[in-house]
Amino acid sequence: MLDSKVAIITGGASGIGRATAAEFIAEGAEVVIADIDEDRGTAVAEELGCEFVRTDVSEYDQVDELVESTVQEHGRLDVMVNNAGIGSETSIEEMELEEWHRVVEVDLSGVMYGMKASLPHLDESDGCIINTASIYGLVGGKGAASYSAAKGGVVNLTQQVAIDYADEGIRVNSVCPGFVDTPMTEELLESERFYSFLEANTPMDRPAQPEEIAPVIAFLASEKASYMTGANVPVDGGWTAH
Ligand code: NAI
Repeated sequence: MLDSKVAIITGGASGIGRATAAEFIAEGAEVVIADIDEDRGTAVAEELGCEFVRTDVSEYDQVDELVESTVQEHGRLDVMVNNAGIGSETSIEEMELEEWHRVVEVDLSGVMYGMKASLPHLDESDGCIINTASIYGLVGGKGAASYSAAKGGVVNLTQQVAIDYADEGIRVNSVCPGFVDTPMTEELLESERFYSFLEANTPMDRPAQPEEIAPVIAFLASEKASYMTGANVPVDGGWTAH
């Protein structure tokens, strides 16, 4: 489905990004994974048989360099997956301002930087963007002030950029996962109290595996989603259905 497409996946060293890289490669894409974690990124790239570029998505120059080096190496860019992110479970009153700024820089500015740097190249390839938002971009998340604000920003920015670039043939969508069993949520999912909260709010009664999110990202990247743009697609076991 993604034969010969050139794709960048940020946060590709772990969790949803790693599963997405594996899915894209299985579907025939040439993948570049970008991550701040050099050791894990190098190991995952070797394991999956793709390229790794160490990138901090909160630094625009690094994101721009990632995109330019990919285009230089592969001749084009078809898909930009802005997936890198960090979690936060702090309410406004408890939060140090530093934490607010870091979460917004990585989870929201990082996504904007990925879109800004890739759009000129996606214009040439009639390519597409998929951002990883969250259910907490669609509804508020208990105790997750900066994360909900950043992900809400990703949801709205996805719609805004989709509108601006529909004429150019560039599609822009996001996935909004519910809780997914990845290193980001490892500690949370080990807590019985949190697990009960998750079960109470998820009609399907369980977290997702990253391999249940990746095919949705791959679908959005494919020609099969040719009439989809500006969509923020919940992949959440029913969390936002009630
Ligand atoms: P993860 O922690 O397994 O993977 C995130 C990856 O992003 C890591 O490899 C990390 O090194 C990388 N990263 C962090 N900061 C970075 C930076 N500044 N620059 C480049 N890379 C950076 O987490 P997971 O769960 O796979 O998260 C992926 C995306 O999915 C995130 O945007 C997260 O907010 C979102 N998400 C996750 C959910 C979950 O329950 N795990 C639910 C909804 C959304």
